[in-house]
Amino acid sequence: FSLRHFNTFGLESTARYFAEVRSVDELTQILLDPVWQQTPKFILGGGSNVLFTKDIDALVIHPDIRGIEKIKEDDADIWLRLGSGVNWHVFVMYCVENNYGGVENLSLIPGTVGAAPMQNIGAYGVEVKDVIVSVEAVAVNDGTLRIFSKEECRFGYRESIFKKELKDQYIITNVTFKLSKNPVLNIAYGDIQKTLQELNVTEVTIKDVSNAVIHIRRSKLPDPAQIGNAGSFFKNPEIAETQFSMLKNRYPEMPGYAVNESKIKVPAGWLIEKAGWKGYREGSIGVHERQALVLVNYGGGNGNEIKLLSEKIQDSVEEKFGIRLSAEVNFV
Ligand code: EPU
Repeated sequence: FSLRHFNTFGLESTARYFAEVRSVDELTQILLDPVWQQTPKFILGGGSNVLFTKDIDALVIHPDIRGIEKIKEDDADIWLRLGSGVNWHVFVMYCVENNYGGVENLSLIPGTVGAAPMQNIGAYGVEVKDVIVSVEAVAVNDGTLRIFSKEECRFGYRESIFKKELKDQYIITNVTFKLSKNPVLNIAYGDIQKTLQELNVTEVTIKDVSNAVIHIRRSKLPDPAQIGNAGSFFKNPEIAETQFSMLKNRYPEMPGYAVNESKIKVPAGWLIEKAGWKGYREGSIGVHERQALVLVNYGGGNGNEIKLLSEKIQDSVEEKFGIRLSAEVNFV
């Protein structure tokens, strides 16, 4: 079974077996079915953060659980429970249309609701953990359902318990969000301010913020429907303040944001661009011409080529700046 249409890189990879499940019941049934007991299982959600480098000799389970359910509501907030298979941007648009605030800065991020807590998606000053109440997930080994509170998810920068301690052990089935009916808009991010000015917006609404984000993303990031990619390929590295000062002496224009008193976060896109990779192309794959942090498959590329390119980039950035980038994308 070809997985080409199940990963946003558009990479060819063949699954030995493939099952799409539409409900928690269907999911537990297949997990507990004696026929599949001995078969290794691989969980594939929205496929917006994976790099396939080989065929998958396993039962690939693709959960596609839908639904938007109102749980409760008070004067200030509304609680929504979503199926993990709901398209992320469809959910954001639903909130924007209903004037529920909290996810507008996360407009147009590819993938599903279930992928959002997995790697704590974030953009333009907001992370999804800010609006998550709890995450429901089923254990791969015995099919039991567990509800993780926000704290139990151990969210960090592009991290959660599902990517670390419990990697490959749980399948996210539902996520509950708390959204604000009187939102405080987050427009501190420079690009958002600039875009709102360009669009001549004065009294800013949720919809304006969403539109601004959509505008920025379309201008910088390739649409996976046209050019295969998985968003940022690497994380933005955090380095010691002392190392940052040293680098700043050599590269005065180097950007950086303080994370705490001793750590500075540096944009990987800048490092990669300065190392000469922006717009680089090698056959069917390359580095996006407008955002060096995004590796792309122009069509027909394979995962190993992208992996090799990513290693070359890591080596060259390390040689030039003494910083080792780490991947945000999951290699399979
Ligand atoms: N930059 C360059 N050259 C480049 C790209 C970026 O010099 O080719 C510089 C920019 O000029 C800017 C800085 O790097 O000063 C930051 O760039 P940008 O605003 O595009 O954001 P980013 O740090 O590259 C992060 C997230 C994105 C998120 C944006 C906006 C990570 C790994 N990436 O990118 O998330 O959309 O901020 O908040 O944290 C993703 O995770 O897949 C993703 C797209």
